[in-house]
Amino acid sequence: MQMMQTKLRHLMSPMDFSTDELAKLLELAADIEANQEKYAHVCQGKKLATCFYEPSTRTRLSFEAAMLNLGGSVLGFSSADSSSAAKGESVSDTIRVISCYADICAMRHPKEGAPLVASEHSRIPVINAGDGGHQHPTQTLTDLYTIYSLLGRLDNLTIGLCGDLKFGRTVHSLMGAMVRYPNIRFVLISPEELRIPSYVRDNILVKNQAPYEEVERLEDVIHQLDILYMTRVQRERFFNEEDYVRMKDFYILNKEKMELARKDMIVLHPLPRVNEISVEVDDDPRAVYFLQAQKGVYIREALILTLLGLRP
Ligand code: CP
Repeated sequence: MQMMQTKLRHLMSPMDFSTDELAKLLELAADIEANQEKYAHVCQGKKLATCFYEPSTRTRLSFEAAMLNLGGSVLGFSSADSSSAAKGESVSDTIRVISCYADICAMRHPKEGAPLVASEHSRIPVINAGDGGHQHPTQTLTDLYTIYSLLGRLDNLTIGLCGDLKFGRTVHSLMGAMVRYPNIRFVLISPEELRIPSYVRDNILVKNQAPYEEVERLEDVIHQLDILYMTRVQRERFFNEEDYVRMKDFYILNKEKMELARKDMIVLHPLPRVNEISVEVDDDPRAVYFLQAQKGVYIREALILTLLGLRP
């Protein structure tokens, strides 16, 4: 195992990495995926803390699988109720304590900015594993790695983002990361009420002069797309159940709609899905969302190694 000199570094947003750094991270993930034995003991003696104040299956368990694959150990909590947050402890106090127990921490929190606050009081790298409706940078790393693995490029792409573009933090993070590559065009497919927030439009699309169109009907645009990124309507972020019920089945990707798409389009979804992709689509070779979840382990391994400054 090699230890490289690194200064304390956190991951709050996918834009924290330059495109050159991202390229290195993707290459490292590809090497890990192809040579898993080589990395099996790199993190021996290191501990990952997973501090999840909000439910998760993929992010928490793929982080844990990543650290175990690297020969390290994991500790943590999977809900605010099972931590001292339930007694009123602040995130800044919690991370001070976690810094005594672990070498690196992945944190998910319902409040936007909570992982950033933690990073400001931490002695160990903190990874934002999703903060409210704001950012989900490791999902974006997973998305980039999946796109790069399957299509061989991150430029010259027409990307359709479909569903809850208002509350879907994965969409905001992905747009911010992709806008930095040449010739990326976005097709934003959502009902009027779930369009991207104006701060995302201004800070990402307008600022970077990224071409985009906003439409409501998936059927009208699916034929143009290299990538269709489906999202779930985020029930937990709605202020009332009635609005959620009205919106939840606005889009259902089924075989009929897939017939309108190109043969080489890929369908991504951060998961979990509810009804927005019919299970009949799962057998279509273009439906790669379960493979995407698997690739999330390799990119998180690459991230852990990079932030800890370790190599085999
Ligand atoms: N994609 C994603 O963040 O899934 P989980 O909520 O299960 O972690």
